[in-house]
Amino acid sequence: YSQYPENTIVQRPIVAAHRGVPSLAPENTMAGYQLAYELGADLIETDVQRTKDGHLIIMHDYTVDRTTNGTGNVADLTLEQIRALDAGIKYGPEFAGEKVPTFREYLQAFKGKDVVLLVELKATDVAEQTMKEIEEEGMTDQVLIQSFHLGEIIKSDEVNPQVGIGYLFSAGVPATTDAKLKNAQQMLNYASGMNATLNASYGSISKEFTTYMRQRGMMNMHWTFRNEQHLGNQLEQGVIGPITDYTQWLTDVPIRL
Ligand code: G3P
Ligand code: CA
Repeated sequence: YSQYPENTIVQRPIVAAHRGVPSLAPENTMAGYQLAYELGADLIETDVQRTKDGHLIIMHDYTVDRTTNGTGNVADLTLEQIRALDAGIKYGPEFAGEKVPTFREYLQAFKGKDVVLLVELKATDVAEQTMKEIEEEGMTDQVLIQSFHLGEIIKSDEVNPQVGIGYLFSAGVPATTDAKLKNAQQMLNYASGMNATLNASYGSISKEFTTYMRQRGMMNMHWTFRNEQHLGNQLEQGVIGPITDYTQWLTDVPIRL
């Protein structure tokens, strides 16, 4: 977007549906992803992990306890055990029967559709298998990879340098702008050849920071917006790609680039 003059007004931000639309449907379920798509999300974000028997599934936490009716670590359970769990019932009876999606299921549901899949490598050592499944589905043009784990970032880039990659970092709370800028610079040192997406969480993001990133061709995608007023303020500060639990707030909000 750096090719557009600053202050260009566009019709809406680039909306990334964080784990689907957890404000309206259970996180990281096919029901949630489908809703995100119907609401017009530009990207659908997800979290990839691996089961004990080597299958890629989608879950944010390292245990199944919070979001399903089961207990235990994802990495200690087989695919069959995980698929037997209910990932909707805790959210509400209307979502009873929702399963923990496999990564392949998520890919196939949106293959060729007008949406980008924002794939977070949540576990370590899943980069190669994730890229393999993306390639097998012929979806390298339809995904962006992101991770907090630098090793996973580097591995993804080695496997397929064509795929866009973002480095997630969290400078902690409270974080000074200086710390954020320093982290951005460090990312750039590692990120040569990578997609220039960078995410920063926590608190507020300043115009200084978004300008710094923009000048270096980095997309200002940040997470996780859950407060409408804060979100509005951050759009004014130059966030153009909010990663949010509230896709429904954002489908018609003009912003300045
Ligand atoms: O997309 C960024 C965001 O998902 C990272 O945080 O903990 O929600 O996976 P988390
Ligand atoms: Ca995530």
